[in-house]
Amino acid sequence: MAPSCSSICILLVLVNVALADFPYKEDVYVQYIDHYNLVSYGDQTFKQRYLYQDKYWGGDGYPIFFYSGNEGPVDTYWKNSGFIHEIAPEFKAFVVFTEHRFFGSSLPFGNKSFTMPYLGMLSAAQAVADYTMFLNDLKTYLNASNSKIIAFGGSYGGVLAAYMRYKHPSLVHGALAASAPVLMQAPEGPHDFFFPKVTKDFRDYSEKCYTAVKLAFAQQLDYARLGQPGLDQMVKKMRLCSPIQHDFEFRKMQMWARNAFVYLAMLDYPYPTEFLGKLPANPVNVGCDTILKQADPLVGLADAVGIWYNATGSEKCYNVSKEFVPCSDPTGCGTGDAATAWDFLSCTDIYLPHGSNNKTDMFPELPWDSDARIEYCQDKFHIRPRIGWNAEEFFGLDLTGASNIIFSNGDLDPWFGGGVTKSVSDTVVALIVQGGAHHLDLRASNKLDPPGVVKVREQERNIIRKWLNQ
Ligand SMILES: *[C@@H]1O[C@H](CO)[C@@H](O)[C@H](O)[C@H]1NC(C)=O
Ligand SMILES: *[C@@H]1O[C@H](CO)[C@@H](O)[C@H](O)[C@H]1NC(C)=O
Ligand SMILES: *[C@@H]1O[C@H](CO)[C@@H](O)[C@H](O)[C@H]1NC(C)=O
Ligand SMILES: *[C@@H]1O[C@H](CO)[C@@H](O)[C@H](O)[C@H]1NC(C)=O
Ligand SMILES: *[C@@H]1O[C@H](CO)[C@@H](O)[C@H](O)[C@H]1NC(C)=O
Repeated sequence: MAPSCSSICILLVLVNVALADFPYKEDVYVQYIDHYNLVSYGDQTFKQRYLYQDKYWGGDGYPIFFYSGNEGPVDTYWKNSGFIHEIAPEFKAFVVFTEHRFFGSSLPFGNKSFTMPYLGMLSAAQAVADYTMFLNDLKTYLNASNSKIIAFGGSYGGVLAAYMRYKHPSLVHGALAASAPVLMQAPEGPHDFFFPKVTKDFRDYSEKCYTAVKLAFAQQLDYARLGQPGLDQMVKKMRLCSPIQHDFEFRKMQMWARNAFVYLAMLDYPYPTEFLGKLPANPVNVGCDTILKQADPLVGLADAVGIWYNATGSEKCYNVSKEFVPCSDPTGCGTGDAATAWDFLSCTDIYLPHGSNNKTDMFPELPWDSDARIEYCQDKFHIRPRIGWNAEEFFGLDLTGASNIIFSNGDLDPWFGGGVTKSVSDTVVALIVQGGAHHLDLRASNKLDPPGVVKVREQERNIIRKWLNQ
């Protein structure tokens, strides 16, 4: 059975989800498992979830705002991309968010999806093909042949939005790629920007904070040098649930602690949020204040990581194994099945930043270069990453062939250095969000927004309007 409008045609059997701010309707689209090999899985399909809102839509000729789903359940992105919902009425746009294959409930092989060989069907190229099929059928179903599609996305979703416009310019009229580290995909692109930027965010708030974090990590090492009795003391101070007896456990604990700083910096929004986890307003400042409240930096570190790992206040001790899974992405993969899927993508398509070095950053020496990645991926998945494939399949450093893409990047965002931060042409435009963390511009407006994001959102609306009037 071809994934024509078979599923979309019954989309009017609506599930109305009551959601405080931005209500949506939800359905599934019958999607091909393999777009590139008609023999491997033949006509086999899976149910791809999508969320939409049609109450603002003006009908044929009015735009379709499409969000290319990321590495997580798509409703997370719906709830945290209020900008799109806020501008939809003035454009009379149809809003639709499509879930990425292998994430949320869009599992091509049900609960077998996260095992071999099924994981092999997970790739950025397949995801882009999914979105292309979906959008073609959506336009047909809506009788919207005159409607222009604008793609949106943040982070990896932003990378996909840019790829959608680049690869399918007749289907997608323009793309807003927010905090999308696209240049990192090129082998010769930037890979050493991430942990220095996290460090800078904390250091910019307070030099003392930077010193205390460095000292805390150095103290861990000093305890480790004392052998098991030292390690036991450190475990107690850090309030870990289990003893550390092996090198690999020590390294894992270091990565776990480092990862809390990654999230505080990435999600350094000026008001409390619940995006990838629950955080207070200005978590970087809160993190620093927390560390500096303690005379003993190590105890301060234990308190500070709790902002991320103990947000509920219900953890009696830190269970490192439960809270952090080391993987091919040094910035963290999360936990559960989604972590496995992201780990696989990071071992195949997505070329990520390198590790920390205790020189250009405040973290322990936890190197991660392309050789380490190759070794890990061979061990874990028995595959050898093809470095730079996405740069070939889509684009690398050279964007001169692209058009109608906005690349926005927040100057607080650790991913800043992997993105396009200088305009390439009249229509491939870089916007910098002063005072913005990871895709703040995609979030709903808030009275605590810095002026920088208010300005960039206005520019984005104007550019989208210009595209639509072309
Ligand atoms: C996977 O799904 C199948 C069919 O729905 C079910 O029978 C099986 O128990 C599930 N296995 C696991 C490990 O959840
Ligand atoms: C599209 O047009 C067909 C034929 O005119 C009509 O039957 C159908 O209801 C329209 N679909 C929508 C969603 O308006
Ligand atoms: C988590 O927070 C609660 C409440 O503040 C506190 O009692 C507990 O000690 C914290 N757990 C850890 C491991 O720090
Ligand atoms: C830590 O979490 C793991 C995985 O969820 C669990 O198996 C283990 O029992 C937990 N350890 C402690 C000490 O709570
Ligand atoms: C970082 O480097 C300093 C010296 O440059 C050293 O004293 C400290 O122990 C190192 N910290 C870690 C965690 O390796």
